[in-house]
Amino acid sequence: MSDKRPIGIFDSGVGGLTVVKEMRRVLPGEDIIYFGDTAHVPYGAKSKETIKRFSIENVNFLLKYNVKLIVVACNTSSSVALPLLRRSFKVPIVGVVMPGARRAAALSGYGKIGLIGTRTTISSGAYEKALKKVAPKLKVISKPCPLFVSLAEEGWTSHRLTRLIAKEYLAPLKKAKVKSLILGCTHYPLLYQVIKREMGKGVRLVDSARSVADETAIILRERSLLTSARKGGMQKFFVSDEPMRFAGLGKRFLGKKLKYVRKA
Ligand code: DGL
Repeated sequence: MSDKRPIGIFDSGVGGLTVVKEMRRVLPGEDIIYFGDTAHVPYGAKSKETIKRFSIENVNFLLKYNVKLIVVACNTSSSVALPLLRRSFKVPIVGVVMPGARRAAALSGYGKIGLIGTRTTISSGAYEKALKKVAPKLKVISKPCPLFVSLAEEGWTSHRLTRLIAKEYLAPLKKAKVKSLILGCTHYPLLYQVIKREMGKGVRLVDSARSVADETAIILRERSLLTSARKGGMQKFFVSDEPMRFAGLGKRFLGKKLKYVRKA
């Protein structure tokens, strides 16, 4: 059995390319259709209703490409829209919240779990809900870190200002002595080193992009949806605003040049 249909991935913009990068590592033979909703980015400070509406539109766009599964790469969208998307569409839909929560629970033992993300992700309580299912006794300490998104896009991944901002944002999590820290936003893997340095060696960072790629591979296998190709999967990127800025920024997030970028 080989299912050659592509995987669909969407995000509010360029950040979801951190998920594409991990997906290519774990599933190199799979084709990917990506949609970045650059006309509406950022999602992180928008209302739940608005994000739900955009998320439905994003899924409808991807379905035109006959995708076999959809990954909601955006943590904000996964946090507020996933149940609605699953109720509204037949295609399997994977979000980033549960895979990250599972990984954090596995790494934390009896210790506390830290969580950082956009304001909407944190205020949604979605991670707390997911963690309650997998590790009901674990305490979660969360903190919105909205400036991290701009710093990652600016390329200030080791700038001294980024280190100062990280110090300020992460202070309550350090004080609480969390055992693991969920990087609950597409952009935060780019700031991995700064965050790691600030939190110290003993704290395990959970990259939700990596966790969702692993979980997607498991779901595809369980449902016999894997392609038989071992490598060479193609990627096509679509955006809702002009593609130039996305292509430029995208290289940093994906770790390589984006060959096919088009306006949706
Ligand atoms: N993609 C968003 C997330 O992961 C971050 C950027 C935004 O606010 O749209 O939450």
